[in-house]
Amino acid sequence: MIWIPGIDEVPMSLSLIGRDGTSGVTVRRRGEATNALCAKKAGEQIGVRGPYGTYFAVGEEAKLLLAGGGTGIAALAPLIEMPIMKKKDLTIVTGARTKAELIYLSRFKALHPVKTMRLVATTDDGSYGVKGLASSIVDTLLEKEKFDMIYACGPEPMMKTILEVSEKTDTPVQFSLERIFKCGVGICGSCSLGQYRVCRDGPVFSGDMLQGITEFGKTRRDSAGRIVPI
Ligand SMILES: Cc1cc2nc3c(=O)[nH]c(=O)nc-3n(C[C@H](O)[C@H](O)[C@H](O)COP(=O)(O)OP(=O)(O)OC[C@H]3O[C@@H](n4cnc5c(N)ncnc54)[C@H](O)[C@@H]3O)c2cc1C
Ligand code: FES
Repeated sequence: MIWIPGIDEVPMSLSLIGRDGTSGVTVRRRGEATNALCAKKAGEQIGVRGPYGTYFAVGEEAKLLLAGGGTGIAALAPLIEMPIMKKKDLTIVTGARTKAELIYLSRFKALHPVKTMRLVATTDDGSYGVKGLASSIVDTLLEKEKFDMIYACGPEPMMKTILEVSEKTDTPVQFSLERIFKCGVGICGSCSLGQYRVCRDGPVFSGDMLQGITEFGKTRRDSAGRIVPI
């Protein structure tokens, strides 16, 4: 949770976990808090609480598909950079609305030998890479190939589509989800999703945990606690 004094406190994923102890977040301007955060100058102070909640689990699985939509790729970047990933066969699908919003392409290309890493970029408007949605590429890949695990973070409709495809192809999946967070520690209920509090029980959920959660991909709570469509 990042506190911008006098403004708000908002949840952010660590997009950089450096071996030298440095940490970083990647911020997309949306409203008051993110605009204020982007306006900060070097040396100005912010507060940090956490980290809280669950994280992506990495096991023995060899062939991995990682799909990030928009700034969702920020949550996947430290996972992709884990030393253990050098031993895996990685396919990274990163999607954005347009070329200017695609981030980290050179960061990922610099990481691993080409043999074990495929990088597929998509844009909704076709200004770079494959024209279309990241979830369509995931769908096409899963039709042709078997993956041992999917990791995904992005807009919820994209993750809903990936959940459906993963069920059809019997592929395990882990998602990092977004809701409005206030307390960040399971008390206020603003991040409710079915029986879960996303801040405490997530933000990373397995596909199995999301089975039967009818709100997933459809509704969330707004900042006043009202249930609104996604
Ligand atoms: C676990 C988690 C990790 C996140 N990681 C990142 C990150 O790495 N980088 C990043 O830029 N953002 C991230 N976010 C989203 C970020 O917290 C919100 O964009 C931020 O709270 C918006 O605050 P604001 O005051 O700028 O916008 P507001 O003025 O509060 O809202 C602006 C608009 O964005 C919508 N909105 C606000 N918060 C959310 C949300 N959480 N989900 C969907 N829509 C929202 C509002 O409904 C409104 O339409 C993450 C959210 C969660 C829950
Ligand atoms: S943010 Fe308060 S319960 Fe999750």
